[in-house]
Amino acid sequence: MKGKFITLEGGEASGKSTNIQFISKWLAARQIPHVLTHEPGGTPFAESIRQLLLMKQPEPIASDAELLLMFASRAQHIAQVIKPALDSGKWVICSRFTDSSYAYQGGGRGLPMEKIAQLEHLVQGDLQPDLTILLDLPVEIALERARHRGELDRIEAEDVAFFERVRAVYLARAKAFPERFRVIETTTFEHVQLHLDRILREKGFDRP
Ligand SMILES: Nc1ncnc2c1ncn2[C@@H]1O[C@H](COP(=O)(O)OP(=O)(O)OP(=O)(O)O)[C@@H](O)[C@H]1O
Ligand SMILES: [Mg+2]
Repeated sequence: MKGKFITLEGGEASGKSTNIQFISKWLAARQIPHVLTHEPGGTPFAESIRQLLLMKQPEPIASDAELLLMFASRAQHIAQVIKPALDSGKWVICSRFTDSSYAYQGGGRGLPMEKIAQLEHLVQGDLQPDLTILLDLPVEIALERARHRGELDRIEAEDVAFFERVRAVYLARAKAFPERFRVIETTTFEHVQLHLDRILREKGFDRP
């Protein structure tokens, strides 16, 4: 039996890291073996690529270079972590995956969606998440939370319009793939967890 593949998406400080822990506890309570991971990164080599992507650089980074590095990191992550885990029956819960590439490099940077779709096909074949949770919140609140955490990385330092485009692409994809996506408005912690619990049950994940 293959494990289920669940991804968490959302803009800066939308609560992905917070809520991946909630999902982990939820699965552990049902004795479902799983691994928690994130992108970009998730293996030592992929984390090196993450560092390159998030560091402020002394030259402008070509959007295509950024996109290719995202997918290079993803290819390594799939080969080393995601596929082996799913094949051995473990579930994989991943903070950010390919929807982030559509939202940030497609929406934020304005790259053609078709280019991203080609890389998605090349790197993933038919691998797709079984469930994608989109944590949605207004950009102003998200940026306020991110600023509170201290220094912004290369991508967090983009302007409000960039993050508005990111959010719009996320919401458009949720609409385009209603089977796979569930959107949760990140008002309070309690609200998010109540909805996560409801969604996981509705998917039948409490009786795998
Ligand atoms: N529902 C919520 N209500 C209020 N604050 C929240 C909520 N969810 C998360 N936060 C707070 O927002 C901040 C960012 O949360 P978290 O680190 O989980 O986000 P993230 O999506 O992982 O961010 P990043 O994209 O930077 O990795 C934290 O301080 C967290 O406590
Ligand atoms: Mg995080």
